Amino acid sequence: MKNVLVTGGAGFIGSCFVRMILDNHDDTFVLNLDSITYAGNLENLDGYQNNPNHCFVKGSICDAQLVANLIDKYEITSIVNFAAESHVDRSLTNPGIFIETNVQGTLTLLNAAVEKKIEKFLQVSTDEVYGSLGEDGLFTEQTPLSPNSPYSASKASADMLVAAFGHSYGLSYNITRCSNNYGEFQFPEKMIPLMINNALHDKDLPVYGDGLQIRDWLWVYDHCTAIWEVLTHGKSGEVYNVGGNNEKTNIEVIELILSKLGKDKSLIKHVTDRAGHDRRYAIDSSKIKQQLGWSPTVTFEEQIEKTIEWYLENTTWLKNVASGDYLNYYNEMYEDR
Ligand code: NAD
Ligand code: DAU
Repeated sequence: MKNVLVTGGAGFIGSCFVRMILDNHDDTFVLNLDSITYAGNLENLDGYQNNPNHCFVKGSICDAQLVANLIDKYEITSIVNFAAESHVDRSLTNPGIFIETNVQGTLTLLNAAVEKKIEKFLQVSTDEVYGSLGEDGLFTEQTPLSPNSPYSASKASADMLVAAFGHSYGLSYNITRCSNNYGEFQFPEKMIPLMINNALHDKDLPVYGDGLQIRDWLWVYDHCTAIWEVLTHGKSGEVYNVGGNNEKTNIEVIELILSKLGKDKSLIKHVTDRAGHDRRYAIDSSKIKQQLGWSPTVTFEEQIEKTIEWYLENTTWLKNVASGDYLNYYNEMYEDR
């Protein structure tokens, strides 16, 4: 039996990873540590709460005593760290919490991992640590780190700490760097669910700048299978890029959403661009494909359709999460645009 501490397992990607393990890997116990910030939601785990291979604990990765106690109590053998502040726009208005969670929180986990002799530490990172691409080329694992936002700077800092713990203390680790994820249960401040939610309510769709920025979209479940492969078969000390080989401009994605929902393009409203907005991300995933035999299982065209259908069928979930803190934040952000 493997006992995995999954942090941030009530968020968008972490909850998908937890569901994937519980559905497919009977020999794995998941201890799910999540502080349930505005982005964490236990509804994402409905139907999995009482699974005997799953235990949820509400708490922070910054709480060293809690982390140490949990590792002992549940005889944890590996850690997968999803927990983070993950939204670039929020990092531009409140960078401090990104340093606290993404840097200090990762450091806390690393200290515990070394002290408790954890077998594998997997840091879930992002392609944003590489900065922005021009019109050509792809991010490889050798691309120098060049983060541009407080969010990506905090993730790059965490990556460097993880590697330093491997080098200095012999911690067995992997880092995965993934492109933009889409799929069910994504908090509707990120572009795809935000545009779906707004279009459903005939609200403006706020497109930053010209909307010609490019992202490489990957289905969240495919990201989770990549993380599983790296956790179970990745060579210690290696970084693996994970991408969808699926570059789209933002405006292309937004127009597709409007057409699937039967809504008019007049809802599109170009607004002030994001400060320091990265123009293009695109991932070269050949290393994980060749070394671990992973590849995406769906095309964007088929899966985005299913994703839109999921949001249409789960308007109660959308309504529940699109309230409170999110609404205040959203209104503040857009009131002067
Ligand atoms: P998310 O914002 O949906 O979820 C983050 C989760 O972490 C939430 O459940 C939140 O409650 C929890 N959390 C925050 N602070 C915590 C703390 N101090 N202690 C414990 N839990 C805490 O994020 P996501 O989109 O699911 O991203 C997960 C990870 O994947 C992040 O590390 C992110 O940087 C990375 N990533 C995301 C994407 C993407 O497209 N969403 C792409 C590449 C990498
Ligand atoms: O590349 C991986 C990263 O992808 C992850 O590390 C981050 O955690 C994740 O949030 C995501 O970052 P982005 O900034 O690319 O995602 P977001 O959904 O915020 O924006 C996607 C693109 O859409 C980006 O170019 C900004 C644009 N956008 C976004 C919003 C929210 C808009 O034009 N309008 C919007 O309202």
